[in-house]
Amino acid sequence: MRDATRPGHRADVLFAVLRRGREGGQLRQTLDVSSREDRPGPSWPVRPDFAPDLFRGTARHYLRHRPTCPRPLIDALLADAHVTGAGRLLDLACGTGQVALEMAAHFATVLAVDQEPEMVDVGEEEALRRGITNVTWRVARAEDVREPPGSVEVVTIGNAFHRLDQPLVARMALDWLPAGRCLVVMGSDGLVSGGEPWQAMALDIVRRWAERPTPAVERDAPHLTHEEVLLAAGFEDVHEVEFSAPHVWSVDDVVGHLYSTSFGSKRALGGNVEAFEAELRRALLDLDPGGVSTETMQHFYLLGRRP
Ligand SMILES: C[S@@+](CC[C@H](N)C(=O)[O-])C[C@H]1O[C@@H](n2cnc3c(N)ncnc32)[C@H](O)[C@@H]1O
Repeated sequence: MRDATRPGHRADVLFAVLRRGREGGQLRQTLDVSSREDRPGPSWPVRPDFAPDLFRGTARHYLRHRPTCPRPLIDALLADAHVTGAGRLLDLACGTGQVALEMAAHFATVLAVDQEPEMVDVGEEEALRRGITNVTWRVARAEDVREPPGSVEVVTIGNAFHRLDQPLVARMALDWLPAGRCLVVMGSDGLVSGGEPWQAMALDIVRRWAERPTPAVERDAPHLTHEEVLLAAGFEDVHEVEFSAPHVWSVDDVVGHLYSTSFGSKRALGGNVEAFEAELRRALLDLDPGGVSTETMQHFYLLGRRP
């Protein structure tokens, strides 16, 4: 199962793409809005059963090799969620702070929560390194977080909603948020879900060398799209915004990114780490002797507002 997930889509959900490009040296931005009717997406077991330590050993790779959210996506999200600058952000399944650290300057305080202690330690260390002092880090399951009603301005979940008990977390978020405030599910299609031939090749190599199989998605469990979960919990104004941004991967980044995933971590590769890395580096350099792989990454946020 891939880490970077996209929610499924309802026919009536509007789709916005911010395209960025250069024209005569100037950065150009256009906003296209269209229906997603023609692009049905996956749905997920609403109460998945992942091991609680799937990411053990990945945190340093995660921090270094996961592309951050493009700035236009963060800016659009802050405006869409009517962020005041004086509120509190709760970032669930925070990893090493990919969302929390990018958003921290726009909130008085941030609570960043992850169930894996190593993720939290590395995130806290990175906050110190960047001089970000308003983030509190907590090791906990998202499902066990208890906060006073109405005490949180925005709840974010980056690349991880599919890992949580989604109906429970959405209901709890509704309680933490005052009226008009938002739960935001964020994510990106990345290296492992992109459509470039080099990506399929990298994925094939990791699959062949991984000793621990990718956890299977339970087919019989109840599945819903993320939009359906938010709507069922009682959120309104549920909509998705998507951004495309070019990304250039070095060979080190591709290797490090795969080590940051649950299915390609050094733990999952076991005794095959060296053989895997040698084959992957060789194959990438065969494709491009300059050691550069490119893709257009899709980033999105899905926002729901508390009535
Ligand atoms: C793919 S990472 C996402 C990290 C970061 N939010 C981002 O946007 O890149 C998934 C994270 O979810 C965390 N996680 C998975 N299930 C969780 C749960 N039930 N409660 C808290 N954290 C969880 C994992 O420990 C891991 O750090």
